[in-house]
Amino acid sequence: MDKERKLIIAGNWKMNKTVAESLDLASGLVRELKDVKEVDIAICPPFTALSEVSKAVIDSNIRLGAQNMSQNGYGAHTGEIAAGMLKEFSTKYVILGHSERREYQRESDELIAAKAKAAHEAGLKPIVCVGEQLEEREAGKTEDIVGTQVRGSLAGLTTEEMLGTVIAYEPVWAIGTGKTATAGQAQEVHAFIRNLLAELFDADTAKAVRIQYGGSVKPDNARELMSQPDVDGALVGGASLDVRNFSELIKNSI
Ligand code: 13P
Repeated sequence: MDKERKLIIAGNWKMNKTVAESLDLASGLVRELKDVKEVDIAICPPFTALSEVSKAVIDSNIRLGAQNMSQNGYGAHTGEIAAGMLKEFSTKYVILGHSERREYQRESDELIAAKAKAAHEAGLKPIVCVGEQLEEREAGKTEDIVGTQVRGSLAGLTTEEMLGTVIAYEPVWAIGTGKTATAGQAQEVHAFIRNLLAELFDADTAKAVRIQYGGSVKPDNARELMSQPDVDGALVGGASLDVRNFSELIKNSI
């Protein structure tokens, strides 16, 4: 597929997999995906598996991501993980502001922006998630909601930091439900986000930033979604938990 920006497909394993299972999955993916050069590939295991998985992917084309981090540096923050700790395992990406964290941990745009800034300062590339709830879409508020999240969650980033940031558009109603946004619905919101980036930063930055789609992406719908001009990759939950599904999904996207 001829794309303006290189695709980036990341697996968000969420709260799944023991260390042993993580190693199986990571080493299976290394084997299956070793010849893929057309896509930037990342996997985001739980914190407890980062150390072992980092060894399994070290010489491969698969990069490591984390699912969250603290906005604070090292210090008295019981139960939190600092960006510097993630760097110890050659982690490259960190997912921030996933809708599950926005909902269950009450993460605000302001907090996500602070985390994104801290991630860049530590040399990590944030994958900043945005997306509307079903009622919001039905009330015609998708652009309002997504626009507010984009402005708020990226507030304070320099242009250079924005260029090193990935945005993931994940409509909440499509996550884990088997209900994918149609390719047209995804394209519409992606184009809206890109136009907003041009306003907030500049046209060249907007053109360069990669925007992933997330929400029930599977091997059989990946190609149509990835063929949309403003869809530059995927953030994958359920289908990233299995070697065959995730590798097929990636190969079908090329
Ligand atoms: P599913 O692919 O399971 O719908 O999850 C999407 C997601 O939340 C990725 O971050």
